[in-house]
Amino acid sequence: MLSWDEFNEEDTTTAAPAPAAAQPTSQTAAKLDNDAAGSVEEARAVAASDSDAIARAKRALDDLDIQEGLNELEGESARVRVDEKRMINARADLNQLVPFKYDWAWQKYLDGCANHWMPQEVNMNADIALWKSKDGLSEDERRIVKRNLGFFSTADSLVANNLVLATYRLITNPECRQYILRQAFEEAIHTHAYQYCIESLGMDEGEIFNMYHEIPSVAKKASWGLKYTRSISDPTFQTGTPETDKQFLRNLIAYYCVLEGIFFYCGFTQILSMGRRNKMTGTAEQFQYILRDESMHLNFGIDMINQIKIENPHLWDADMKDEATQMILQGTQLEIEYARDTMPRGVLGMNAAMMEDYLKFIANRRLTQIGLKEEYPGTTNPFPWMSEIMDLKKEKNFFETRVIEYQTGGALSWD
Ligand SMILES: [Fe+2]
Ligand SMILES: [Fe+2]
Repeated sequence: MLSWDEFNEEDTTTAAPAPAAAQPTSQTAAKLDNDAAGSVEEARAVAASDSDAIARAKRALDDLDIQEGLNELEGESARVRVDEKRMINARADLNQLVPFKYDWAWQKYLDGCANHWMPQEVNMNADIALWKSKDGLSEDERRIVKRNLGFFSTADSLVANNLVLATYRLITNPECRQYILRQAFEEAIHTHAYQYCIESLGMDEGEIFNMYHEIPSVAKKASWGLKYTRSISDPTFQTGTPETDKQFLRNLIAYYCVLEGIFFYCGFTQILSMGRRNKMTGTAEQFQYILRDESMHLNFGIDMINQIKIENPHLWDADMKDEATQMILQGTQLEIEYARDTMPRGVLGMNAAMMEDYLKFIANRRLTQIGLKEEYPGTTNPFPWMSEIMDLKKEKNFFETRVIEYQTGGALSWD
């Protein structure tokens, strides 16, 4: 294990900072530049002791055209000004993270890092004993665990693929891309968590991971999402026209508002309800951490969608609003069907009708979050305990103990 004390000690002997008086002035800087150029040339010269491979590597670099390499980068070559930054179709250099334009995106990146967790930290022993015992769980409860691991084990891969193959390229803002990279890693952790549960419980991996092909209520949700990835994951797809910009906006609504904002909620509620009844507590704990991450993904997606609308008001016309509403309503309907399939009878103090109300309540929120009107007016939340976790903005303090542990564990002291 790396000890930072040793590292610091070595640091002070070999890399002590130069005293202030020795800092180069502009006159000495020019001389230093010349000296450096000579020294670089010397290092590049092929020496008699160089092997053929080393000599070839040095000669290859003689032909390196810096301009050609830099010309291939996205965006312009000048120093970036905040007013040039845009969510989509920006021309500013995308490798210059600062100055920030969207402080909320950077803050979410920091919050995501502060909430870091890994699946192996959760103790699964009680779940293993309960899952393997003959009368530990009812058939209906077992069905809920299996269906949800089946849906989620591939759903997070769909989200991750859409992020890295489509969203990342088309969002032309470095602070948002920084969060998207963090989100992509979190999706990998989620898939890992499901795999970890499946393996711990000794389930048939093929049955669970292939469920999105085999069980209609799972397959419908997956294929509904994939439809929106297909067109924009084509490497030749570009935004820049009202039609292609709208196509990308549809993808963001499909993934952030529907997949992560609706399709996860029946399963989260069922598994967390199980945990509240002291059953499958390890699995429920994994789902709690995932839910905390997901509520940040959702909020980030909503902020991106609303920012794109502000910057491109022509995209948010009557047709687009109607389409967005339709997408959220279709998603709600599919999730209601999933609730019926996973809960043919009342179980864990809930039933499909209560879940339907809850999903309508969630759909109203998704609609209003992107500026659309509620389609299920008057719906109330039958599971107020879920609000404790997801509806309130508690990303930073819901799991306060663990967050603090990570923050102290992760911060290096250079004193
Ligand atoms: Fe996820
Ligand atoms: Fe997510």
